[in-house]
Order: sequence, then structure tokens, then C-alpha cells
Amino acid sequence: MTGKKRFASKSVIFLLILICIVVIVGLLSQFKLQSSSTEFSYYNHHDNLLEYPIKDNKKIAFLFLVRDNLPLDFLWHNFFKNADPENFTIYIHSKPGILFDKSVTKSAFFYNRQLRNSVEVGWGTPTMIEAEKLLFKAALDDPRNQIFVLLSDSCVPLYNFSYIYKYLISSPRSFVDSFIDATDDPREKRYNPEMSPDIPEDKWRKGSQWITLVRRHAEVVAYDHDVFPIFEKHCKRRPLLDLSKGNESLIEQQQHNCIPDEHYVPTLLAMRGYEVELERRTLTYSLWNQSTEPMNTQAWHPVTFGFSSASQKNIQDIKDIDHVYFKFENRTEWCGTRSSSGPCYLFARKFSRGAAMRLLTNGVVGPYDPSTLFLDPT
Ligand SMILES: *[C@@H]1O[C@H](CO)[C@@H](O)[C@H](O)[C@H]1NC(C)=O
Ligand SMILES: *[C@@H]1O[C@H](CO)[C@@H](O)[C@H](O)[C@H]1NC(C)=O
Ligand SMILES: *[C@@H]1O[C@H](CO)[C@@H](O)[C@H](O)[C@H]1NC(C)=O
Ligand SMILES: *[C@@H]1O[C@H](CO)[C@@H](O)[C@H](O)[C@H]1NC(C)=O
Ligand SMILES: *[C@@H]1O[C@H](CO)[C@@H](O)[C@H](O)[C@H]1NC(C)=O
Repeated sequence: MTGKKRFASKSVIFLLILICIVVIVGLLSQFKLQSSSTEFSYYNHHDNLLEYPIKDNKKIAFLFLVRDNLPLDFLWHNFFKNADPENFTIYIHSKPGILFDKSVTKSAFFYNRQLRNSVEVGWGTPTMIEAEKLLFKAALDDPRNQIFVLLSDSCVPLYNFSYIYKYLISSPRSFVDSFIDATDDPREKRYNPEMSPDIPEDKWRKGSQWITLVRRHAEVVAYDHDVFPIFEKHCKRRPLLDLSKGNESLIEQQQHNCIPDEHYVPTLLAMRGYEVELERRTLTYSLWNQSTEPMNTQAWHPVTFGFSSASQKNIQDIKDIDHVYFKFENRTEWCGTRSSSGPCYLFARKFSRGAAMRLLTNGVVGPYDPSTLFLDPT
């Protein structure tokens, strides 16, 4: 073999190796590009975030729909203190103009978490749904938010963060209380025939407002612009009988009594064919006063737990509930994740500050250490 030939074959081998390297590097970078365009495309537009190490933990978005402030912030503070900050985000919808800072909350977890575009909410009106949609929309901006939990200002967690995180992340389904509204009392019939055919009567559902959605269902709710306007037009709460308004009030009593937030999400998801992807129950326990007449205003609100009713025994009784029964459908929902049975409820309402303090000191959300009650989480 001449020196020239040896050189040539050596260069061929060198070239082949070079091509291999180029191909491998090309494949790798393409793979990287693909994964970044699905999971982390958000960060590419926000260069300053690249300075922080990016973990790929799925996040749970806690969406607080509140009247003004968060009276139970001390309990939630302890709940979040025991969490990995990479595993959750917080969003608050409150009255326009309220800014969550030191003057509103002692917990730094809530600083600046209030939506800037919040709306004035009339309880029992479609503005409540509007506020919910704004919360989902804001939380969808973070691509790592995978589960979206809607909570009120009187909701409490019944477990520590890691328990709730595992429970929610292991479910591929949303948790939406949803049942056929089959009351016999015509005055309580919520479906308004004027909604037909936009909302078919066989898709009309009722259920608790307090839902937990996976990302694809949160998108359906946040970006729905077809069904919501029909609710705005035809689903209104009937005002209370006011004799001073004379026959005007009597006429109002003939209207459909429709409480939008108890129908919108389950009806929308049923219309769009997502009902098969739901756990058709809520994760938020509420206790309804059985001893009142249905038309009594007391019956429209759940019982509030005070210090004395938040005993360890009562809380354990709620945690021990492992199924719910829907009488209109003769349907029993067994709770827990798909492989094993477990508790139905991760949250409960309505809790007073005293009741929440009792949960805190009983260690419900984690070990209780009074000295760290409101220290900065960072
Ligand atoms: C959280 O609660 C669960 C069940 O109540 C318990 O088994 C677990 O040890 C707790 N985890 C932490 C980090 O406290
Ligand atoms: C945070 O998320 C990671 C990854 O999903 C998980 O392994 C870890 O247990 C979570 N931490 C807590 C406190 O839940
Ligand atoms: C309300 O009552 C007044 C007086 O009884 C009557 O003139 C009026 O027509 C009533 N209005 C309606 C809409 O029934
Ligand atoms: C239930 O309603 C009745 C009648 O309105 C009232 O007297 C009672 O205090 C209520 N119970 C609870 C636990 O709030
Ligand atoms: C309800 O369902 C159960 C079990 O599926 C059945 O045995 C029972 O007869 C049903 N009851 C009614 C009233 O339909």
C-alpha cells in the first residue's frame, strides 16, 4: 500500500466517523428541540427564567376564588410550607383593586398572586363563572400546571401537601361533581327550555362548583365562548320574594331558578363529550343542613364548621368517607385512585378561622410548629 493510498483510506474512515458524529449530534439536538417545544416552549420566550434550574415536576395550580382576602391563609401557609416550591402555583381572584401584599395577608405565598384583570362578582350570577374562567386562563399560561384545583376562601385541605399531590397527579381524570338534575319540584327545575337547542336538555347537569380539572379540561372551560353567553342570558338565580316590590316580585318567582356555577362546568363538559373522562364527584366536602326546607335560604349554604365541630373525630369521619351516592341516578361512586380505594375528600368547606386553627394545631396539614407560623417561605 502506498503512502498516498493509506492516507486516502484513513481520510475515508475519518470522514465516516465525522459524518456519524454530525448525524448523532443532529439527532440529539432535534430530540432536545422537540422536547423543549412541547414542555418548555414558554421559557424560551422568557430568557430571565433560564437562569434558574428548571425541574420538570408537574405542578398543581391552586385557584382561590375569594370575596376579598384569605381568612385561612395561616393554615394554607403551613400546607405550602411543606411542599416543594417546584410542585405548585397559586392564583387568586378577588375584588378588582385588592392587591395581595403585607397589608392583606401575612403569608408570602400569596404576595402578588391576585389576577390583575379580576371582575366584580355577584354571588349566584354568571360573573362567578367569568371569574373562574379567568383563573383557569391565567394558570394555563404556565405549561407545567397540569392539575387545576378551584377553592373558596373558606376551603381547607384535609391532608398534607405530598398526600394531596400524589392523589391528584396519579389521576388522569378531572374531578367534577356531575349528575342529572331530575328534581320533581317544577319550581326547582333549573333547565330553561329557551336554552334549547344550544344546550340540549339531555346534556344539562348539576354539581358542586368546587372542581379539579386536568389541563385539557381546563382549556375547554377557559376558552369556551359558545356556551357561556347562553348561561349569561338564560341562567339566573331567582331573587328572594320581596313583598315590598308587589307583583313585580311575584312575577320574578315564576322565573327559572338557575344558579350558574352549579351547572356550567358539568354541562359544558357533558356537551363536549368529556363526561367519560371524569370522576363524577367533587373532592371538596360540604355539609348541607338537612333540617331546613328547600326554599329556606339557610338550605342554600353549607353549614360552617366552628372550633367545636372541627374535632379530630369529626375530621376523621369526613376522611373515612370512601363512596358517594347519587340518588337521582342510583349511582354510587367509589373513591380513591383507580387501583386502590381511598378517601373521597381532600378538601372541605366551610371552615371558620377557629376551626382552621384547630386543624393546624392538630397537625392535619403537617407538623405544627408555632415559631414558624408566618416566616418567609424562601
Ligand atoms: C403526609 O400525610 C401522609 C398521610 O396522612 C403520611 O403518611 C405522610 O407521612 C405525610 N408526609 C409528610 C411529609 O408529612
Ligand atoms: C414534587 O414533585 C416530584 C415530581 O413529581 C415528586 O417526586 C415529589 O414527591 C413532589 N414533592 C412533594 C412535596 O409533593
Ligand atoms: C301589578 O298590579 C297592578 C295593580 O294591582 C296592576 O295594575 C298591574 O297590571 C300588575 N302588573 C302586572 C305585570 O301584572
Ligand atoms: C340548620 O337549620 C336550622 C333551621 O334553619 C337551624 O336552626 C340550625 O341551626 C341549622 N344547623 C346548623 C348546623 O347550622
Ligand atoms: C339501584 O342500583 C342497584 C345496583 O345497581 C339495583 O340493585 C337497584 O335495584 C337500583 N335501584 C333502583 C331504585 O333503581
